Amino acid sequence: MCGIFGYCNFLVERSRGEIIDTLVEGLQRLEYRGYDSTGIAIDGDQVDSTLVYKQIGKVSALKEEIAEQNPNREVTFASHCGIAHTRWATHGEPKQSNCHPQISDPHCDFVIVHNGIITNFRELKTLLLNKGYKFESDTDTECIAKLFKHLYDTNLQNGHELDFHELTKLVLLELEGSYGLLCRSSHYPDEVIATRKGSPLLIGVKSDKKLKVDFVDVEFPDDDSKPETPLGYNKVNGGLKNLNGGTVNGRKMRPYEQNGGQNNLLPIAANEFNLRHSQSRAFLSEDGTPNPVEFFLSSDASSVVKHTKKVLFLEDNDIAHIYDGEIHIHRSRREVGASMTRSIQTLEMELAQIMKGPYTHFMQKEIFEQPESTFNTMRGRTDFENNSIMLGGLKAWLPAIRRARRLIMVACGTSYHSCLATRSIFEELSEIPVCVELASDFLDRLSPVFRDDICVFVSQSGETADTMLALTYCLERGALTVGIVNSVGSSISRVTHCGVHINAGPEIGVASTKAYTSQYIALVMFALSLSDDRVSKLERRKEIIQGLKLIPEQIKEVLQLEDKIKYLCENDLKDQKSLLLLGRGYQFASALEGALKIKEISYMHSEGVLAGELKHGVLALVDENLPIIAFGTRDSLFPKVVSSIEQVTARKGHPIIICNKNDEVWENKAKSINMQTLEVPQTVDCLQGLLNIIPLQLISYWLAVNKGIDVDFPRNLAKSVTVE
Ligand code: UD1
Ligand code: F6R
Repeated sequence: MCGIFGYCNFLVERSRGEIIDTLVEGLQRLEYRGYDSTGIAIDGDQVDSTLVYKQIGKVSALKEEIAEQNPNREVTFASHCGIAHTRWATHGEPKQSNCHPQISDPHCDFVIVHNGIITNFRELKTLLLNKGYKFESDTDTECIAKLFKHLYDTNLQNGHELDFHELTKLVLLELEGSYGLLCRSSHYPDEVIATRKGSPLLIGVKSDKKLKVDFVDVEFPDDDSKPETPLGYNKVNGGLKNLNGGTVNGRKMRPYEQNGGQNNLLPIAANEFNLRHSQSRAFLSEDGTPNPVEFFLSSDASSVVKHTKKVLFLEDNDIAHIYDGEIHIHRSRREVGASMTRSIQTLEMELAQIMKGPYTHFMQKEIFEQPESTFNTMRGRTDFENNSIMLGGLKAWLPAIRRARRLIMVACGTSYHSCLATRSIFEELSEIPVCVELASDFLDRLSPVFRDDICVFVSQSGETADTMLALTYCLERGALTVGIVNSVGSSISRVTHCGVHINAGPEIGVASTKAYTSQYIALVMFALSLSDDRVSKLERRKEIIQGLKLIPEQIKEVLQLEDKIKYLCENDLKDQKSLLLLGRGYQFASALEGALKIKEISYMHSEGVLAGELKHGVLALVDENLPIIAFGTRDSLFPKVVSSIEQVTARKGHPIIICNKNDEVWENKAKSINMQTLEVPQTVDCLQGLLNIIPLQLISYWLAVNKGIDVDFPRNLAKSVTVE
């Protein structure tokens, strides 16, 4: 996942070398989140100049890049704002031009680091291209930098030199999507903007002196409390800015610097300040003089705690403007009931705790991230009002795909299960025959592939050797290849003709959880796209799209089963040697995926069985001791599932049923038979597997934790299997 880090020092002298080291070390603290490239922006040697260093790969590669460029590390800065980023590619592959910071122009008038996705970036880019801007990257972020410049220049031409936060408000009005971003500008030296919407951002405050208050007021446009600054610099005047700076030694200087000293620069006594709000006082010392202060901005507290435990969390739509040692928080409008202050809190957490949040393992964190990750897969691609899907990576290819004679889905492990889970809806909506293949077996058989086949490769990592070999095999036979991949810039993503990035964010735990639900959704969206020209499928498509809309919230609801599941794992499922999972139709994939999770994480033998096959052999295993979990949620096969489960209970089995809430059939059965239920909300049949798999992910997790297994690194397994 992308990471943001920023460092501002005010009246705390720092050499450029120290600033670089602080930024690079901040990025190192974000490494655990997963990323593929890095970059920083700091002040240059010339007036208002900026140095930008970027590199693909690890933070260590960035360090080498900076060493190679050999900037003068000795220059000192009394005040300075530097910004830095670790990028997890979403828009464009990992390459130097796509790394952040992204710049507005070669002179770096505006420089941005950004987390999140700007969903209307194509429209913005077209507009800016028409205005003559040249784009160097494939990122959505570059259009933010250029938009800053465009709006700044346009206002300037009209005689308005906007204050940095006023300019930011204008920029944000144009952006759709999500962002956490930092912006620095040569027009606003030693200032930085931090703003967020749907992506976390916090500001750490470090000062040797005690802060006078522990909150910052929020400022609104109609606020008559615009900060009056004592020296007349950076004075806000109806949104226009009057900088009384000058140039010293080639650098644009702030008035306090021109005064020569650093700490005792104020000619006016503190009590004469017309300071209206405590936000400005927050960083003044007891005697009212400006405090030397440092700010650490980050998307993640883990990179800040080393420096300070005093942090302020920004809220969505806050625009934090940091300059002259103060934080000003602006909002575009006053909302009824909204908090008028942001408190500066003291973090009590230790580093390891912060990295995993309240979770003990990454796997648990990723299971609980699924409401957001599934939403992110759909974001910007699903129009719930008009019931339409737009997969940018497939759009141009859909006519060719619709002409296919056959669709072959190829994958391994969990990714293979996501193909099985969606095969039926693919066939129903596209009316094209679909084969689902395990990559290794597909290659072993040298299965025939033809030019009019469409081959779909599903992979979280995009690097799995078997899947990659199968892809090469299909390319050699002239088939059109489609990737469904999480890692942008991975081999499968690059080599396929077209595809869909599932945008689940990096998955760090070895067991695949959030990637499964996102692959599942991406595949359903693919199937929906294939049928958007069919009137006969209109109602079905509408039903599914409306079902998708509710999935993130419904997953949240299922996650509340954790306590009940923990109890089951500590009691009914404790010390068991084997576990059967029964499923039918859409739920056969859930049974296989659930069994795989249990095997790989808890080392317990587990088998997913097609409920219809029970009577053809597996029933011999059933007795009162064998634990069984059965998927008994409602769909057209429900009566058949009930009958399979009756075969189990007739042999004294007492299954755990995953069923829909308040289902009378199971409520009645539970009265007469010893069986338990785990209730999940009901959704459209082809989406039910998205909800049904969550309890199994939690069961595998708690079975493993109870056995003391390192859940994130189960034995004999690697996250990315790059060997055959
Ligand atoms: C793009 C953004 C996405 C954003 C969306 C809406 C990129 C990389 N993605 O998604 O973050 O949510 O706009 O604004 O810019 N591709 C392959 N093989 C694969 C996967 C993808 O060839 O396995 C290709 C696609 O055909 C496409 C490109 O990579 O050309 C980007 O794919 P994807 O991220 O899915 O595109 P969008 O849905 O347009
Ligand atoms: C199971 C798991 C593996 C992977 C498989 C394919 O939890 O993680 O079964 O699903 O190795 O990996 P990708 O999806 O990266 O191709």
